Amino acid sequence: MHKLSIKDLPLRDKRLFVRVDFNVPLSEEGRVTDDTRIRETLPTLEYAIRNRAKLILASHLGRPKGKPNARMSLKPVAERLRMLLDNVLESSCNVGFSPDCVGIEAEELSTRLESGQTLLLENLRFHPEEEANDESFARALAKLADYYVNDAFGAAHRAHASTAGITKFVGKSAAGFLMQKELDYLGQALQDPKRPFIAILGGAKVSDKIGVIRNLMGKVDALLIGGAMAYTFQKAQGREVGKSLVENDKLALANELLHEANERGVAFLLPVDDVVAMKIENDIPTKTIDGDQPIPDGYMGLDIGPKTIKLYADQIADAGTIVWNGPMGVFETPSFATGTKKIAQAIARNEDATSIVGGGDSVAAVHQAGVADKISHISTGGGASLEFLEGKKLPGVEALNNK
Ligand code: 3PG
Repeated sequence: MHKLSIKDLPLRDKRLFVRVDFNVPLSEEGRVTDDTRIRETLPTLEYAIRNRAKLILASHLGRPKGKPNARMSLKPVAERLRMLLDNVLESSCNVGFSPDCVGIEAEELSTRLESGQTLLLENLRFHPEEEANDESFARALAKLADYYVNDAFGAAHRAHASTAGITKFVGKSAAGFLMQKELDYLGQALQDPKRPFIAILGGAKVSDKIGVIRNLMGKVDALLIGGAMAYTFQKAQGREVGKSLVENDKLALANELLHEANERGVAFLLPVDDVVAMKIENDIPTKTIDGDQPIPDGYMGLDIGPKTIKLYADQIADAGTIVWNGPMGVFETPSFATGTKKIAQAIARNEDATSIVGGGDSVAAVHQAGVADKISHISTGGGASLEFLEGKKLPGVEALNNK
């Protein structure tokens, strides 16, 4: 890591602005239903509190489009954070809440903070200037603190006021421990992977994964493809795919990618059988069709079949590094979730490999299969990890000071 770390900052009695990604799911009643992203920042927060910093935490939640929206308030997050910090610090922790992230009240609250206390600001995206990376808004945020730490890996691909602009107006800007951990795992996989290095890519669209496929092509030993995007590749190769989801405008590109893989000697594996049905509905009749057979008219491919599961599991068992992003089928419908869950289990069985999982459905599959503790690294950033794997620079990382 060539960026400053929180460990390089003077913390005692300093006001420290920590950008976190507390974009967590809330229930109808406003309860936090998955606090993974909050828990993942605890090492950074605990370190800052124990070193007597005055913590100002800021995050977005949802996409409120620049207006206050009570359903996207961070207030319930402050409650959960207080509970989690009490637990970690084994004492009652002072977590205040500022009803706005900028302005006189936020400034007063941040000035009144005592060393070791924490203040969570209301949702940054209640102001349109956040996403616009507006300079005066960035200055207003910077006014609250002496130093800046970015621990919001999940938002590091956004060039917003709190992830990029603010760094111009604070003393020094450094990475938190979660940010460092994410960059270390992903960076190591891309730069110096234990081989064989395989990437398992799924999801509906080839267009969402073109950048990743292109960038990984020069680095991996094998690409294993699942999800509906496999049908675009198969149709490009001349298979009849029934009414499976296909991006007809990407057929030529799909062929180009297959050709490139062949030229480079990278194994590009497509499903060898598929679970098909007439519609996406739980418990409706399904058929399993071999990959060299057409998918019948009126049917669509909705999951990888048992032969593909075996083929991919064998590759996974031999791998030294595994990166997985995207489901193998329509994972949200239980009848078509088997492939995705079996891949999660296969990855968990290879305990010698470095395994990295990112993206909402793949992460959910790992949890549902009960194997999260067997995965080396579960990324807290869906879009951010994908952009990293595409080889793009992340604005939230670029903006930090170099060591
Ligand atoms: C995420 O959930 O991927 C991050 O919090 C970023 O959210 P965004 O896609 O709304 O910018």
